[in-house]
Amino acid sequence: MNFKRNILITGGAGFIGSHVVRLFVNKYPDHRIINLDKLTYAGNLANLRDVEGAPNYEFVRGDVCDCERVGELMRTYGIDGIIHLAAESHVDRSIEEPFAFARTNVMGTLSLLQATKLHWESLPER
Ligand SMILES: NC(=O)c1ccc[n+]([C@@H]2O[C@H](COP(=O)([O-])OP(=O)(O)OC[C@H]3O[C@@H](n4cnc5c(N)ncnc54)[C@H](O)[C@@H]3O)[C@@H](O)[C@H]2O)c1
Repeated sequence: MNFKRNILITGGAGFIGSHVVRLFVNKYPDHRIINLDKLTYAGNLANLRDVEGAPNYEFVRGDVCDCERVGELMRTYGIDGIIHLAAESHVDRSIEEPFAFARTNVMGTLSLLQATKLHWESLPER
């Protein structure tokens, strides 16, 4: 099937992400929604059981910090839109494990931006 848009949603198994994924999958059947999530303690695919078989939905387990893998995903799916919701979000953990926060929230976001830039530069029409 040819999709009108291919949207990457990161952190789609989390609290906010699962609602956004469900909304997009149901509201835009002509858009393909690719959910990239590492499934940390905060991610739970049970949140998305009702849409897991939808023809316009794909789940990919992976880390936003892996710039190369994210770039590969963008090429494979022809990604043309991104909603970035993957994060370390629990305040108590930010005190106990601050490096995990910096890694995902800062380096993960940078990695996603860099993969996006490289993907965009590789397109025939930017
Ligand atoms: N929950 C709220 O009320 C709220 C309000 C405003 C803004 N936000 C923001 O929305 C974003 C998401 O919040 P949430 O409450 O859904 O968080 P959450 O902790 O429930 O979900 C985060 C998701 O990101 C995934 N994830 C974590 N590290 C990852 C990585 N390295 N690679 C790929 N996936 C990874 C987790 O597995 C999880 O599914 C955060 O930036 C948060 O600050 C949340």
